[in-house]
Amino acid sequence: MKIVSNPQQLQEISTRLRKDQLTIGFVPTMGYLHEGHRALLKEAREQNEIVIMSIFVNPLQFGPNEDLESYPRDFERDKQVAIEEEVDYLFHPTVEEMYPEQMSVTVKVGRRTNCLCGRSRPGHFDGVATVLTKLFHLVQPTNVYFGKKDAQQVAVVDGLIQDFHFPINLVDVNTVREEDGLAKSSRNIRLTPTERQEAGILYKSLSLARAELIKGQDNLELLKKQVMDLIERESSGKVDYFEILTYPRLEMVKELTGEIIIATAVQFGKARLIDNIIFELENTPR
Ligand code: PAF
Repeated sequence: MKIVSNPQQLQEISTRLRKDQLTIGFVPTMGYLHEGHRALLKEAREQNEIVIMSIFVNPLQFGPNEDLESYPRDFERDKQVAIEEEVDYLFHPTVEEMYPEQMSVTVKVGRRTNCLCGRSRPGHFDGVATVLTKLFHLVQPTNVYFGKKDAQQVAVVDGLIQDFHFPINLVDVNTVREEDGLAKSSRNIRLTPTERQEAGILYKSLSLARAELIKGQDNLELLKKQVMDLIERESSGKVDYFEILTYPRLEMVKELTGEIIIATAVQFGKARLIDNIIFELENTPR
């Protein structure tokens, strides 16, 4: 595995690889790798001749009161994971290398962000779309891999790829869960042992809401309230949002049919956890 930190050097490498007609699978990450990342890397390894992973904690996607400084980092361990998952190139630039000066042009995401995490994290998806635009130009991937846990991010990247005509295939990979259903996340490390016990409530509440919808519950406001009450009754978590929307457009549900996303964000002490379930509803009149 080769570690590259210079953006231009990475671009030269991928230009050469594409000239040699090799397929490139790209897994963009912010490091502190867990099973969810391994699932992305495994899929990339299976489907491409070359696998490139980036590890870069992107300041542009953190708000002023968010956890940029304290975002967990462990490059030595991540390097080991990358070797185990047979990554060919590990791109690990510094902030100065990625942003030598303030950007004069950035990407602004206009749709699919006025809900879920986009609402409570203004500017977050602009930062994600901007860094991904840079990374896509550097890596020139054939396929790019994202976890469905960040479903809104997948929806935004889908828009970015379509709107800017990136010749890239987007692959979304199923969420990897702990035994009690908690989605694997770098932020889980911040949970106290008690909060960790309680955090299974996210998946439990999403599953409950899905079961109610399948049974025909059509009062979405009532259902959301019941489930939010349940989370706050059974845990110390504070619900940031609990939403039921169409997928991937992330619009209000008018008819209980087609692809639906139920998504939640819950703040536990120092950790803000997100999770979602995406599923198809049979045609049920509301
Ligand atoms: O999902 C992440 O880790 C980040 O948002 C990404 C896609 C690497 C962009 O910085």
